[in-house]
Amino acid sequence: MLAAGLGTRMKSTRAKVLHELGGLPLIRHALAALEPLDPDRVVVVVGHQADAVRQAAEGAGLRGLTTALQAEQRGTGHAVRCAAPALEGFDGDVLVLYGDAPLVRTATLRLLLETHRVENADVSLLTMRFRDPKGYGRIVRGPDGRVRRIVEERDASDAEREITEVNPGFYCVRATVLLPLLRELRADNAQGEYYLTDIVELAAKRGLEVVTVETDRPEELAGINDRRELARMEVQLRAERVERLMLAGVTFIDPATAYIGPDVQIGPDTVVGPNVTMRGRTRVGAGCRIDGTAWLDAAVLHDGVHLRFGSVVEEAEVGRDAVIGPFARLRPGTELAERVHIGNFVETKKARVGAGTKANHLTYLGDCEIGPDTNVGAGTITCNYDGFAKYRTTIGARVQIGSDTQLVAPVSVGDDAYVGAGTTVTRDVPAGALAVSRAELRFLEGWVARRRARAAAEKAGGAVPSANGVRPSATAHAAAKASPASAAKTPVRAKPKPVSRARTKATARPAAVPKAHAAAKAKPAARAKQPATKGRGASKQAARKVPPAKRSR
Ligand code: UD1
Ligand code: CA
Repeated sequence: MLAAGLGTRMKSTRAKVLHELGGLPLIRHALAALEPLDPDRVVVVVGHQADAVRQAAEGAGLRGLTTALQAEQRGTGHAVRCAAPALEGFDGDVLVLYGDAPLVRTATLRLLLETHRVENADVSLLTMRFRDPKGYGRIVRGPDGRVRRIVEERDASDAEREITEVNPGFYCVRATVLLPLLRELRADNAQGEYYLTDIVELAAKRGLEVVTVETDRPEELAGINDRRELARMEVQLRAERVERLMLAGVTFIDPATAYIGPDVQIGPDTVVGPNVTMRGRTRVGAGCRIDGTAWLDAAVLHDGVHLRFGSVVEEAEVGRDAVIGPFARLRPGTELAERVHIGNFVETKKARVGAGTKANHLTYLGDCEIGPDTNVGAGTITCNYDGFAKYRTTIGARVQIGSDTQLVAPVSVGDDAYVGAGTTVTRDVPAGALAVSRAELRFLEGWVARRRARAAAEKAGGAVPSANGVRPSATAHAAAKASPASAAKTPVRAKPKPVSRARTKATARPAAVPKAHAAAKAKPAARAKQPATKGRGASKQAARKVPPAKRSR
């Protein structure tokens, strides 16, 4: 297999055979077609980016594959000559293929090989007819219809250019005649190269048996020379794959915009909407619905999953009958059990979520484990990263996480616990407990009117009246501050006070949240050192102190 050329017409710094088609380097396609023939030896001739091409070829995992280096690209004939040492002692039939013809099927290669043997030929080659044969070597036949030679387009006469039978570049040659013929090649042509195609003329002149096999599937044997051809082939390959899936029971709303990779499996009665990409080892079960505009990479969707519009699933597993999206992002390591609901603007990463659990709005679940039948409220965030390391959050079964909750990991919430909306959970919540951390809500009656009066006075350039003796900005800040430390820094009544007094003055009623709890939120290191008994006591206290009116809301 010849794969040493750069592929000038690709206008690329990457060797042509490394360009990808259907997510695989070109060379891998040709090798895959070859594999079922179980050849004794496979020699890949490498040159441009030899190491990368060698690696890509070896990735195919073919038995007996070796590479030969063609350090300087002096033509296809020269390339085969470089492979000669690797053919030492071999006297069977040699298939010569080009690495840039990715759509070839095993059946076609087998047909070439079998015809070669049945006809007892010395040199056999496939041919095909193209209405527009541009770029291909033309098959020149004599008056008796026998092949005389192959002429490259650049070397062809006007009459020869009219020939529509062309050389796709697949040969089968008896090893014992191949090497002597190669030695006779001359580089006396337009490109100054040693053309492999010239062995046909040499063989014909010597009276050797040259046999051609014309195929009626030219599109299968087309080589890729530039990016237009690559794109066209990508479209064709994709269409074929989608057709196979449709025949196997999958519905595609718009087959033309289904981007399905070669290793993807989809079960019957699944409906795939427009603009869906599935890559890698993605497995989609039976009876799934994928609404549209989705990106799945190495995703596993069990039966009956509904992936709503605009969702991304990467290296993640989704359980039976789960509903995902619209606009959800399931990142690597996500494992959702059956009937899980993940709603809009929810991101998960390394999240194991139990059956029937829901997280329907605006949430980040990272490095966490959540039990079954739990409800995660809107705006919940697992704070898993402190800038140095990642920490885990564990949430039990039947838990209610209120909206706008932050779970500062490492932390856990026991089974059946409730977490009040707006809570910052910094210590483990015991099973069955209610956890709340909230700044007290208070009202400054008539504050707006006073603020407006003040603004009007400022504008008029007059004296500035005080808003009830409390500066508006300071008031707003004080109400928003949770920790006593920051409250102390807030200039309440224009004058700093000792910590305890500032808290009392700045709030209308005593804080519901005990000081020990609030102080513990400061940093993870301090929190981690808290003894378990103390933590449990404090959260009990917090739950008790919530006014009944709040709970009923
Ligand atoms: C070749 C054929 C042409 C045929 C066409 C089919 C010759 C002289 N011409 O032309 O008759 O119609 O393929 O696609 O063979 N390669 C090397 N070393 C080299 C040169 C090429 O390994 O020194 C490899 C390339 O990497 C590529 C393959 O050989 O995989 C074909 O080379 P390319 O330059 O594409 O040949 P074409 O001009 O297309
Ligand atoms: Ca070519």
